[in-house]
Amino acid sequence: MINPIGVFDSGLGGLTVVKQLKKILPAEHLVYFGDTARIPYGTRSQNLIKQYALEDARLLMQYDIKMLVVACNTASSSALPYLKERINIPVVGVVKPGAAAAAAMSRSKRIGVIGTAATINSQAYTRHIQKLIPQAQVFGQACPLLVPLVEEGWLDNRVTRLTLEKYLKTLLYQNIDALILGCTHYPLLRPLIQQVVGPQVTLIDSGEETAKVVKEILQNEHLLNVRPKQKRDRFIVSDSPDKFKRVGSRFLGYPLEKVEEVDFEAFLQATALNEN
Ligand code: DGL
Repeated sequence: MINPIGVFDSGLGGLTVVKQLKKILPAEHLVYFGDTARIPYGTRSQNLIKQYALEDARLLMQYDIKMLVVACNTASSSALPYLKERINIPVVGVVKPGAAAAAAMSRSKRIGVIGTAATINSQAYTRHIQKLIPQAQVFGQACPLLVPLVEEGWLDNRVTRLTLEKYLKTLLYQNIDALILGCTHYPLLRPLIQQVVGPQVTLIDSGEETAKVVKEILQNEHLLNVRPKQKRDRFIVSDSPDKFKRVGSRFLGYPLEKVEEVDFEAFLQATALNEN
């Protein structure tokens, strides 16, 4: 099926998931929406995150997508069942695949999770892991300072290292042997995080695990694109396309040629009018 896969995130962090998707599904056409006007989601309430996630999903449905990938950990932890009930195509989030990989890899069944405050407070990773291994112990740590550090490009300096040491100290006391990178931005810090936690802790990139699940679903549902890729991927944002282009190229590892800005407010007003 040639229709695109829709991917959304609160901003540009979801490009780490796009990178993984492109690695294992090079023939697929992607439409990405980054809600840069309303980032961050990680400090919002569950209700607001659900509302934002549904609005993002509805925008992407305009592009005739065959599947929806919720690249944002915060939206995946708070809004996935809510979205699945309202969107009539396959919807995949990043939490369940990340949790499943951690449950499979951890020997001691003592697993750490780092993410935004909303992701950690939702306990979504804990629930998914304990569904698979009821006796597993999951230790969460919110790391709100990491998103701005990554967006600033401070991937390997003293400030970032000290910040990580402070955040990860409590988790390391718990003798975890696996650590889930439960936020779109953290894969960029992977080398530094590995140095801080040491080689005995396996790092799990939820985005990488999600890409594998997306491929499986496309195969099982006969939705894979079997023709050569015809169109370019599209990148759409609700604000500041230039910043997205600049910082996003760093996230993707290659230059983003075109970023479109959508009048999201007008779209939301039009859909609200149609519903009334
Ligand atoms: N994309 C978000 C996540 O993965 C991080 C940024 C935000 O707080 O919106 O949780």
